[in-house]
Amino acid sequence: MATRVVVGAQWGDEGKGKIVDLLSSDADYVVRYQGGANAGHTLEFDDKKIVLHLIPSGIFNGDATCVIGNGVVIDPHALLEEIEEVEAMGGDLKGQLKISGSAHVILPYHQLLDRVKEEHRGDDAIGTTGRGIGPAYVSKVSRVGIRMSDLFHPKALRKKVRDNIADINEALQHVYKHDPIEADPIIENLLEAAEQLCPYITNTSALLHDAIKNGKEILLEGAQGSLLDVDHGTYPFVTSSCPTSGGACTGSAIPPTAIDKVMGISKAYCTRVGNGPFPSELTGKAGEKLREAGQEFGATTGRPRRCGWIDLVALKYAVRLNGMNELALTKLDILDDFEEIKLCTSYRVDGEETEVFPLDLPDVENLEPVYTSMPGWNQSLEGCNSREDFPAKAEEYLQFIERYLDVDLTILSKGPKRSETIVL
Ligand code: GDP
Ligand code: IMO
Ligand code: MG
Repeated sequence: MATRVVVGAQWGDEGKGKIVDLLSSDADYVVRYQGGANAGHTLEFDDKKIVLHLIPSGIFNGDATCVIGNGVVIDPHALLEEIEEVEAMGGDLKGQLKISGSAHVILPYHQLLDRVKEEHRGDDAIGTTGRGIGPAYVSKVSRVGIRMSDLFHPKALRKKVRDNIADINEALQHVYKHDPIEADPIIENLLEAAEQLCPYITNTSALLHDAIKNGKEILLEGAQGSLLDVDHGTYPFVTSSCPTSGGACTGSAIPPTAIDKVMGISKAYCTRVGNGPFPSELTGKAGEKLREAGQEFGATTGRPRRCGWIDLVALKYAVRLNGMNELALTKLDILDDFEEIKLCTSYRVDGEETEVFPLDLPDVENLEPVYTSMPGWNQSLEGCNSREDFPAKAEEYLQFIERYLDVDLTILSKGPKRSETIVL
């Protein structure tokens, strides 16, 4: 019995979905604790493929109860679509999915605000996914948000939504020069969705506290990545929640004393979608080669992902920040065909070399990455079923990463399928 947090160690899309799916066979509960449908978690098993956005990635492997925690922001229609898609693939949601009544609702005005605010930022745009995430968290911390539990109280809900829309219309008309929006269609649409979603909504805090008391196996699934954390990431080019392990507690109601393990997920190289600093980015042919080989296109928006070498300085920061005691390394197969592989091992800032990840944006934007170069293994990892089968040069790469980060690699992934994984 253990409670384990799975976090993205980079800027997202590290393969969290694949690893959470894999680990779920042993779990009693799988809990998503932050973010919303900005996430796209890809699962591949038994010749099936699905991209999950809100439903925890444990839904297809074993019979764990899948919980959407209080820290998540939920677009009701995106969730209903996803429920339909999962059921069509044989997932059983009726008994298996639980939604926290304290999770906040994303409404169409959040998506509209996301869009107009991005337009308004012009060259300084964040490059959000446009899913209304930031504005929904703004409503939450401003204490005017609609929570899933509000769906049980239509009369009060109508008033809250009307009040919110009156307020937002002021900003739309006078700040963003946009037409006002009407409340009634939004309310009716929400109440329609509420009918279908209410059976899933419950007190997941009490549910998980009982689970801990009864020694159940709990897996906490983060979305996004550590460097997109609103407190600890490359602010302001971040998401609006806390993907790091601290966020797992506030976003699920599981106390820090109940957490036994923190597993980070990192690609064997690095990617980022959206704007913001990316020290080890490769903009030329090598970047394109990584993008093509790794099929690096966003699982949610389809945008091409920016690609670069693994950044060990940033990763070490993520290891410490999350208290990671294990690391899963994914997409090793994508490096099969490189003569030379580089690892960023320090930064040069104002002529000084440092292994500390800077937190001030101008410092991150102005640093120069310093690389260690290693020969590539230049052969397919397909037939490797254990770490011992790995070519010597691949083993050297793994050992270099382990030594630098001072963390154990516990999972190696060499293909998108559940079966293409080595658990160490
Ligand atoms: P997540 O958001 O962290 O769950 O990751 P995404 O699903 O957005 O992106 C990861 C992509 O890499 C998906 O298309 C996965 O199917 C794929 N993937 C995961 N692990 C591996 C791997 O080891 N090798 C390869 N080739 N693809 C992988
Ligand atoms: P998963 O869970 C990669 C990025 C966006 C943008 C910034 C803010 O699949 O790893 P937002 O819509 O959250 O306000 O956008 O965060 N972003 C992600 N990048 N993977 C994700 O999720 C992301 N979720 C948000 O591209 O730069
Ligand atoms: Mg993703």
